[in-house]
Amino acid sequence: MTSAPHHAAWLRAARQSLTVGEAPPTPPGPGQILVRNRAIAINPFDGIVQSLGSVVTPWLRYPAVLGSDLAGEVLAVGPGVSRFAPGDRVVGLALGVEKAANHAAEGAFQEHVILREACTARIPPGLAYEQAAVLPLAFATAACGLFLPRHLGLRRPSVASVEQAADQAVLVWGASTSVGSCAVQLVAAAGYAVIAICSARQFEHARRLGASACVDYHDPAARERIVDALGRRELAGVLCLAVGAAGACIDVAARCPGPRKVAMASTPVSLADAPLEGQFGWKLRRLARLALGFAGLALRARRGGVRTSAIWGSSVVQDPWGSRLFEDFLEPALASGRFRPAPQPLVVGSGLEAIPEAMATLRRGVSARKVVVALPGALPG
Ligand SMILES: NC(=O)c1ccc[n+]([C@@H]2O[C@H](COP(=O)([O-])OP(=O)(O)OC[C@H]3O[C@@H](n4cnc5c(N)ncnc54)[C@H](OP(=O)(O)O)[C@@H]3O)[C@@H](O)[C@H]2O)c1
Repeated sequence: MTSAPHHAAWLRAARQSLTVGEAPPTPPGPGQILVRNRAIAINPFDGIVQSLGSVVTPWLRYPAVLGSDLAGEVLAVGPGVSRFAPGDRVVGLALGVEKAANHAAEGAFQEHVILREACTARIPPGLAYEQAAVLPLAFATAACGLFLPRHLGLRRPSVASVEQAADQAVLVWGASTSVGSCAVQLVAAAGYAVIAICSARQFEHARRLGASACVDYHDPAARERIVDALGRRELAGVLCLAVGAAGACIDVAARCPGPRKVAMASTPVSLADAPLEGQFGWKLRRLARLALGFAGLALRARRGGVRTSAIWGSSVVQDPWGSRLFEDFLEPALASGRFRPAPQPLVVGSGLEAIPEAMATLRRGVSARKVVVALPGALPG
């Protein structure tokens, strides 16, 4: 079996609703894998591309298929693929809307998806597709911000257990987000202490994943509490994963001993509520606030002597080390239990028709959950 007609949730033009329709068969090319999709996870980016594609992904060709996260089983492999065989259960990062791919067949929101070998990992037999699907973009984004030299440049994580350095800690602001749930585990696997910032109801979640100290971001004295939690250790870096939190992250980095680096995955103001229609006024106001927000952060960082960087998570696989991350870290770490899929999936429906409601659920907000759609009825290969 190479490929067959199937269904996709199409974004037929910018700012349109998704519509489910037939998609052409696409055979996997060199280094590619064809996967029968069993579970899709939703990311904030999906809704932002749908409503603000002309701003955030101006290269996108329509009709497009959105979606970064999926788990399923391999149907066929392309030339040169040696790590996978038909029948393998895998999780993968779909690159359909990435500039370098820009290819509807590689978007996650469809029944049969083309994945790249470097962005795919086998999953252990006991791991449900719905659980595995929470990982790819969150894992890639966390690894990108934490370990690439242009961001925090931390020591790399190890699949073997590592001793925690007594003198260095990393701050993960947004530890209960999907990206944060991966970041806390990766930082611990790299041998640093983790100071986790989340709401108090998620302290236990962060501790289970490896955080050694937790601070509630609602606490007006949060910055002081972080400095106290750091104690005499050096702050090796700050990963900022919450909209509007970068100012506080910069302030903390400026106050603490260490390299004063903040890697930011989120924006100073939210872009998640852009309307599909009548956007002009919204764009004018929000994009102006966004530009002002970034300018304010740049000024604050300069004053505090802090180096900031903006993360594009999927770019991690263009790095020589990052291109082996799914193979050398994620796959063995999932198999050994050293890395766990987190947060828990919130399965809101089944079938491609459930995706718009799943995206709306994420827009309304989740706490330490990843919104997932199951695809049990995907067409047989
Ligand atoms: N640049 C990239 O490549 C890239 C890739 C993926 C994601 N992102 C961005 O990274 C961020 C996280 O994404 P996600 O999908 O992981 O988000 P998510 O899981 O949907 O985030 C929900 C969580 O946000 C937390 N939160 C809200 N405000 C917070 C604050 N001020 N401080 C700390 N935590 C706060 C909530 O924590 P509590 O429940 O504890 O209150 C909740 O658990 C988003 O801004 C997303 O757009 C960027």
